[in-house]
Amino acid sequence: MTILTTERLRLEPFCDEHLAALNALGSDIEVMRYLGGRTETLDDTRAVIERVKARWAEWGYSWWAFLEHDSGELVGAGCIQHLGRDKAKPLEIGWRLRRDRWGRGLASEAARTMAGFAFETLQAPLLRAVCHLDNAASAQVMKRLGMRYCGIERWNDMDCLAYEISAGQWRARQSP
Ligand SMILES: CC(C)(COP(=O)(O)OP(=O)(O)OC[C@H]1O[C@@H](n2cnc3c(N)ncnc32)[C@H](O)[C@@H]1OP(=O)(O)O)[C@@H](O)C(=O)NCCC(=O)NCCS
Repeated sequence: MTILTTERLRLEPFCDEHLAALNALGSDIEVMRYLGGRTETLDDTRAVIERVKARWAEWGYSWWAFLEHDSGELVGAGCIQHLGRDKAKPLEIGWRLRRDRWGRGLASEAARTMAGFAFETLQAPLLRAVCHLDNAASAQVMKRLGMRYCGIERWNDMDCLAYEISAGQWRARQSP
């Protein structure tokens, strides 16, 4: 299981200690608005953590909790996983932040580090991201990461904006 660090965050693979704070994140209707719109019960979050722990054990990547260095608080979460939860599909990157931490660049900061993990550690050839058509904030994070727009695709029973970046494009952006 891989812990990652950024300037402001420590990214820890989901574990049981994250339950209450992850549930607070998943039960905020504003956070979940473009993620199916359904909030999580405590049992839902418990099941998510169990599933994520199994993925880390089996695949070596899944969801991280974002712990803020300054406050020690869990302020978000992000992932590298397979689109449609199907191992045959390319990797996708995803993120969500606690509402009081929006607009500070934290999602973009975590995204750069998670993408680096996907390309450098996992040697992924391609990284994709999808979001609800109206989720401009998330699409903005994708663009800041250097992803290019690919069109509208259907994922998780939702029409989505799809973005992607290849390993070559990623490496070209890392060189000075
Ligand atoms: C999607 C989501 C994570 C984006 O959060 P965000 O705060 O907009 O994204 P960032 O953390 O990258 O912050 C970007 C903003 O911070 C600003 N910013 C960037 N770097 C910064 C820094 N170092 N210091 C302060 N502010 C900074 C940027 O200017 C940007 O603001 P702008 O859009 O007005 O230009 C957030 O809206 C969210 O959690 N939504 C609900 C869950 C969700 O929909 N997830 C995505 C599903 S696909």
